[in-house]
Amino acid sequence: KRIAVLASGRGSNFQAIIDKVSDGTIPAEIVCLITDNPSAYAIERAGNHNIPVSVISFSDYPDREQYNQALEKTMIKCGADLFVLAGYMRLLKPETVRTFSGKMINIHPALLPSFSGLHAQKQALDYGVKIAGCTVHFVDEGMDTGPIILQSPVVVLNNDTEDSLAERIMEFEHQALPHAVKLFCEDRLEIDGRRVIVHDTPS
Ligand code: GRF
Repeated sequence: KRIAVLASGRGSNFQAIIDKVSDGTIPAEIVCLITDNPSAYAIERAGNHNIPVSVISFSDYPDREQYNQALEKTMIKCGADLFVLAGYMRLLKPETVRTFSGKMINIHPALLPSFSGLHAQKQALDYGVKIAGCTVHFVDEGMDTGPIILQSPVVVLNNDTEDSLAERIMEFEHQALPHAVKLFCEDRLEIDGRRVIVHDTPS
């Protein structure tokens, strides 16, 4: 399978996928990194593994529509079977989501549907939950609302800060996202309405 990754920042989730592709855990090749941030460290990570990079920066386009068109054209050109949003901080327009329906997944640092959107770890801490976590889901036209593939629980400790909790959740993200990518690449995910069925063998 061919994987494209979309990232906006440090790219540690992107790196986790690179590592699992390199060691053969994920039967796929990463065909490109797409980023909206020319200074994303994810670009360095791609360079270390000779992964082609496309920078589609919002400020390079006169308006949102042209930005979206450039992004969708780039995604189609890279011909991936799966698009992984790994810390990609922009919403994709509904038409793009429909174009890649069932072929795009996202990692969110909370147990959805709780705490969608930004600063999810802080939302969890401020709410006072005892269990936080992360979610890997298919992308639909909402924000963080698509069918859930995997979730990992993370205990919140008395002395947790936003940073300490985010760091602990991140460790689970680096396991959950590559595992979800592996399941997709092995054709073991079946979307049944809102539910995702995980098969033991290719379905
Ligand atoms: C991760 O916490 C991810 O869940 C969220 O943004 C962060 C990206 O981190 N969407 P990185 O760029 O993968 O290090």
